[in-house]
Amino acid sequence: MEVETNLAILVSGTGSILEAIIRERVPVAVVVADRECRALDIARNAGIPAELLERADFGANFDREGYTEKLTHVLKKHATGLVAMAGFMTFLSSEFFDAFGVRVLNTHPSLLPLFKGDHAVADALAAGATETGCTIHIATAKLDDGAILAQGKVAVMPGDTAETLHERIKEVERALYPQVLKDILSGNFALPVQHA
Ligand code: GRF
Repeated sequence: MEVETNLAILVSGTGSILEAIIRERVPVAVVVADRECRALDIARNAGIPAELLERADFGANFDREGYTEKLTHVLKKHATGLVAMAGFMTFLSSEFFDAFGVRVLNTHPSLLPLFKGDHAVADALAAGATETGCTIHIATAKLDDGAILAQGKVAVMPGDTAETLHERIKEVERALYPQVLKDILSGNFALPVQHA
């Protein structure tokens, strides 16, 4: 059964995973960025509606609830039924997950529950891990938490830096995330009805 839902991708950076999602012909209704970034240009060049919802404040006074409300409004305007974060660097308030339920996904560059947070690749290296990878999971109001949908493993090589290791992890993310999204959109993969 075809699930009728618009897919929104949230981005902040390079956008190589967004690029892979587009290349794999996953239908993307809108791309929203919290800053000017290469990912936004990728969406524009692909002719996908691209919205810049600029985050002006990265300090302690950031109005997280206000930003989340504006983002929810933009996504609803585009009839979004599934949200995929792909390198999106703003942590959203819980109202976002109330609005979209389990239909918010994220990709994280570690084998969760190991190495949560913004420095997952460097942290895996520093811990002396011989293996790490990526996790596609349902996003919740808790950082890098939520049900795990798929994981891909990557071996840590001698001489790896955070950059070389992250790039090999991203190669796996570029294959895995589009596939998970395709499976959900085609109804081959059922998301749970509610958060575990
Ligand atoms: C990915 O490794 C993702 O897991 C992390 O940010 C990176 C995004 O890469 N959250 P890109 O911007 O798509 O190249």
